[in-house]
Amino acid sequence: MDFWDVIKERKSYRNFSSQPVEQEKIIKVLEAARLAPSWQNRQCWRFVVVQDKEKIKKIGTLNPFTLNINFFLRKVPVIIVACANPKDSGHRHGLDYFLVDTAIAMEHIILAATDLDLATCWIGAFDEKMIKDVLEIPDEIRVVALTPLGYAAQKQSIVDKVSKIVAKGAKRKPLEDIAYFDKWQKSSH
Ligand SMILES: Cc1cc2nc3c(=O)[nH]c(=O)nc-3n(C[C@H](O)[C@H](O)[C@H](O)COP(=O)(O)O)c2cc1C
Repeated sequence: MDFWDVIKERKSYRNFSSQPVEQEKIIKVLEAARLAPSWQNRQCWRFVVVQDKEKIKKIGTLNPFTLNINFFLRKVPVIIVACANPKDSGHRHGLDYFLVDTAIAMEHIILAATDLDLATCWIGAFDEKMIKDVLEIPDEIRVVALTPLGYAAQKQSIVDKVSKIVAKGAKRKPLEDIAYFDKWQKSSH
């Protein structure tokens, strides 16, 4: 896919078909993460690829008390769990770079997946403790984000439709609202 097609085609999917994901495609998206930039090239990220159906079901169990609200995950073919050891990255000006490093690598995964006609959805609302228990992730490691990985179902689900409404139809702000030139001031570019 052309670079701009990848950028434009990527969107959050919340309804997946049961079609399995080819192992070569999983390896390819992980390779995209491996090549991402990171603080002092420390590569603090680690990715857990979950394909075990029972574990996927547990990760997708609805629990509003722990903010585990993305129950559409229980039926996806693959979940990639992006983790990091904060000690393997840096801090500057109060910013924790393990979050930055891992977010960049995760976006590489998401864009590579789009290029391979796979669907993803960045997941920020999850129960970290439960996921760490299910996947036997050590205490010192943080779970930064998840994404389902698979083929999009033909139809949008109710969850998809509701999420779109909550997210204001996934509309973006105009460029003049988000990009300033030479000083912090809205321009007419
Ligand atoms: C940090 C972050 C956390 C997110 N958490 C969730 C989530 O928990 N559940 C979900 O369905 N979508 C989640 N999203 C997806 C956003 O809702 C989505 O990217 C946004 O509405 C724009 O829509 P689009 O991705 O289809 O362009 C998250 C996205 C980001 C970047």
